[in-house]
Amino acid sequence: MNVILGVGGGIAAYKAAELARALMERGANVQVVLTAAAGEFIRPLTFAALTNRKVITDLFGTGSAEEVLSSSVEHIRVAQENDVLVVAPATADLLAKFAAGLAPDFLTTLYLAFTGRVILAPAMNTNMWEHAATRENVAKLAARGNVVLPPDEGLLACGTTGAGRLPDPAWIAEAVVTIGERRKDLEGETVVITAGPTQEAIDPVRFISNHSSGKMGYAIAAAAACRGARVVLVSGPVNLDVPYGVELVAVKSAAEMRDAVMRQLPEATIIVKSAAVADYHVANPAAQKLKKTPARMSLELDPTVDILAEVGRNKGDRLLIGFAAETQNLVAEGRRKMETKNADMVVANLVSKEGIGFGSDVNEVTLVLKTGEVIALPRATKRVVADQIFDHALRLRLALHARS
Ligand SMILES: Cc1cc2nc3c(=O)[nH]c(=O)nc-3n(C[C@H](O)[C@H](O)[C@H](O)COP(=O)(O)O)c2cc1C
Repeated sequence: MNVILGVGGGIAAYKAAELARALMERGANVQVVLTAAAGEFIRPLTFAALTNRKVITDLFGTGSAEEVLSSSVEHIRVAQENDVLVVAPATADLLAKFAAGLAPDFLTTLYLAFTGRVILAPAMNTNMWEHAATRENVAKLAARGNVVLPPDEGLLACGTTGAGRLPDPAWIAEAVVTIGERRKDLEGETVVITAGPTQEAIDPVRFISNHSSGKMGYAIAAAAACRGARVVLVSGPVNLDVPYGVELVAVKSAAEMRDAVMRQLPEATIIVKSAAVADYHVANPAAQKLKKTPARMSLELDPTVDILAEVGRNKGDRLLIGFAAETQNLVAEGRRKMETKNADMVVANLVSKEGIGFGSDVNEVTLVLKTGEVIALPRATKRVVADQIFDHALRLRLALHARS
């Protein structure tokens, strides 16, 4: 995918360097265009070194008549060669110029000449973001089909707290890839994914939980959205941004997760159960905070409902993918789980292995398929593993249909 990264003159311009890297890590070719104001915040050299490409800063060039002539048509060439234009940070000034169709410099001229997808990531002081002029410009740009990624809320560089912060560059990169991706082989599917741990209350302030970070499930959600699916992510409490284009259903306990999944089941065509659901919950959680005493205390636990098994009993012709976190006998346990839960595929991983699994950005899994195949995927980022899971899932569904 060929991406133009337009950088405006905002305090968040330094984050655009990280965005350039994050886009390249996702396989994009990145052409950076800086406005003159952006050049006050960050040097073109930073981007040139990162992207290994000349950075465009000027509509007219600065040298000879020859250079002026070649650069004067460059905006047309750049517009034609690229699939996506992402502007981050998109300043209030750029939003106004884009909305009005003004073209005083390279980036604004390029915007008018560009016919691909436009993604704007505004970042500014909260008052600027909430100003009626900016609101009108954003509404105009959105109505035109430009994707406006809403800024995050939080502490801003100007010292105030509110909406206006540039989202995490990795999140923006994932959104750009999702919007620009041409492979849409999950279009028309509704993929329901569970992720993260569950929390089982002991009393109003304490709970039993586990080390699941949710990263694998969130990567699966990002991959499915990228490939065109409607994605519903039923997630336990995690500290992750919801991927672009993904609908979040936030839950805490195993019982809440079960109810949310069963509510989504009628519309689902693929269900991926990657959450680390508690096996037990406290039989009688206390209504008030338990007081500390010197005496030993014990908790009575009841088994939680087995969501995978319940979905397996009611799955019809939906594709059901389960996860098995094991410390030994990986394939045998994966196969046992697949058969007893009526799953079509189990993604098994050895959580005891160094450097993978809980909290890590990489994973190394073995796919156990209903066809009898056992496929060991190489160690890779969770996002890459997620795509491979869908590659095999789609192939598996064809094989299962051909059999029946
Ligand atoms: C220190 C400083 C920080 C600024 N930060 C922002 C910002 O975060 N967002 C914004 O919209 N404008 C910001 N501005 C104002 C823009 O730099 C100004 O509107 C400029 O004309 C934008 O040019 P451009 O849109 O062509 O890049 C800031 C200005 C200064 C001096």
